[in-house]
Amino acid sequence: MKLIVAVDRSWAIGKDGDQLTYIPEDLKHFKALTVGHTVILGRKTLATFPGGRPLKERRNMILSRSEGFAPEGAEVYGAVPALLAAAPEDAVVIGGASVYAALLPQCDTAYVTKIDASFPADRWFPDLDEDPAWRMEAASPDMEYAGLHYRYVVYKRK
Ligand SMILES: NC(=O)c1ccc[n+]([C@@H]2O[C@H](COP(=O)([O-])OP(=O)(O)OC[C@H]3O[C@@H](n4cnc5c(N)ncnc54)[C@H](OP(=O)(O)O)[C@@H]3O)[C@@H](O)[C@H]2O)c1
Repeated sequence: MKLIVAVDRSWAIGKDGDQLTYIPEDLKHFKALTVGHTVILGRKTLATFPGGRPLKERRNMILSRSEGFAPEGAEVYGAVPALLAAAPEDAVVIGGASVYAALLPQCDTAYVTKIDASFPADRWFPDLDEDPAWRMEAASPDMEYAGLHYRYVVYKRK
């Protein structure tokens, strides 16, 4: 299983139920890595999508304990073991914080967009640079959008 996440300098990922920022090229990168695959996400991350609707061209597996929560075009799982039993090997975990935390042990590859900025935040991803279980495998050149510098970094489980 893989994951994809965008983090700032402090590995922050969200604030007030939304992303820290939107970088158009990063959204394309996200699409390229997820279209045609299964995505795994939490109910609160689903709520951040336009209309709260699942992502097109992808199988959407949602984690939620909410009774009766059944968005059209998505599968809802009430617990991690049930989700893992149904998830294919090529599934991509796309957040948010609670779902990354629950499924990081299942992941062997992390596609991290590292944004060289500090945002106010209330959700974070574990710092993989400080985690001895992970190593950085590849990094793109520095890119820039609207004054924000960022790069794509691939981490692999050792
Ligand atoms: N920077 C990025 O790459 C990125 C990516 C994704 C999201 N985000 C940000 O992350 C934030 C959202 O993260 P979050 O942690 O608050 O919410 P989340 O992980 O998206 O969703 C949390 C919800 O998922 C369900 N859930 C989580 N673990 C579960 C489990 N083990 N079993 C059953 N259901 C489970 C629960 O739904 P119920 O309450 O329905 O039970 C829980 O309230 C937002 O700010 C979002 O913008 C950032």
